[in-house]
Amino acid sequence: MKKLTNKTVFITGGLSGIGKVCAIAAAKEGANIVVADMKSADSEKTLGEIKKENPKAIFIECDVSKFNQVEGTIQIAVDTFGSLDVALNNAGIGGVASKVGKMSEEAWLQVININLNGVFNCMRHELAHMWKQKSGVIVNMSSVMGKVGFSTSSHYVAAKHGVIGLTQTAALEYATDGIRINAICPGFVDTPLLTKIGINDREGAKQRIIDLHPMKRLGKPEEIANGFIFLACDDSSFISGTTLEIDGGYLSE
Ligand SMILES: NC(=O)c1ccc[n+]([C@@H]2O[C@H](COP(=O)([O-])OP(=O)(O)OC[C@H]3O[C@@H](n4cnc5c(N)ncnc54)[C@H](O)[C@@H]3O)[C@@H](O)[C@H]2O)c1
Repeated sequence: MKKLTNKTVFITGGLSGIGKVCAIAAAKEGANIVVADMKSADSEKTLGEIKKENPKAIFIECDVSKFNQVEGTIQIAVDTFGSLDVALNNAGIGGVASKVGKMSEEAWLQVININLNGVFNCMRHELAHMWKQKSGVIVNMSSVMGKVGFSTSSHYVAAKHGVIGLTQTAALEYATDGIRINAICPGFVDTPLLTKIGINDREGAKQRIIDLHPMKRLGKPEEIANGFIFLACDDSSFISGTTLEIDGGYLSE
């Protein structure tokens, strides 16, 4: 039995890494997929990979940090497939590393605008539709850094803590409207993000990151997707306002 047959699943940042693998996993479970992401040379190729699992998939170019763009994108999703059943608010960046006392305003705002305001922008418009439907599931991508600090990443840490606060508050507000809202807190996962923040290039950096996890390895995007499918489908029907840590033991140390 497929777990998301005919459900419309909206995924931000679905062209790469965790979002892409979640999109493929949801398509395998029978969902219609809407990928919202920045323009990319790979968009057609990635959409093709998703369509192999379910041809009912579309890509919409969208910058999640832009309130009006997000509103229009979610409207296209609803107009195309007739409902918005599941949203994975996943788009995010690592940002420029710096101690708080040396961080530029630009570096701070770049991460907050995408990783925190972007999740608000999405929830704001997703919930407007889900409230009318009286059903829906939202999964927000936080991080282990939504629970603890990480030196030189105050913008990222603050944004991911904020995502958990948003998740818990909205879960309370919509608990009797048939809408469940949860967050996932991955440890470090092997995706292009790690290359973008220089972890794969710097001598010893990757090993130091691996060593932060008691399992002594990075996570795989598929392991995050397994958690996403669980939270997206009825297997988690009594779960709302929680955080699912998929972190190789990172937060237990
Ligand atoms: N990789 C990790 O170690 C890790 C760990 C914990 C949490 N996360 C979180 O998981 C999420 C996905 O990360 P990933 O590792 O797959 O990264 P990734 O870089 O592989 O993918 C991120 C995607 O988000 C998109 N994106 C970036 N800015 C955007 C914007 N303004 N509007 C729309 N789309 C935008 C990118 O184009 C890309 O497709 C992020 O929120 C990240 O913070 C990642």
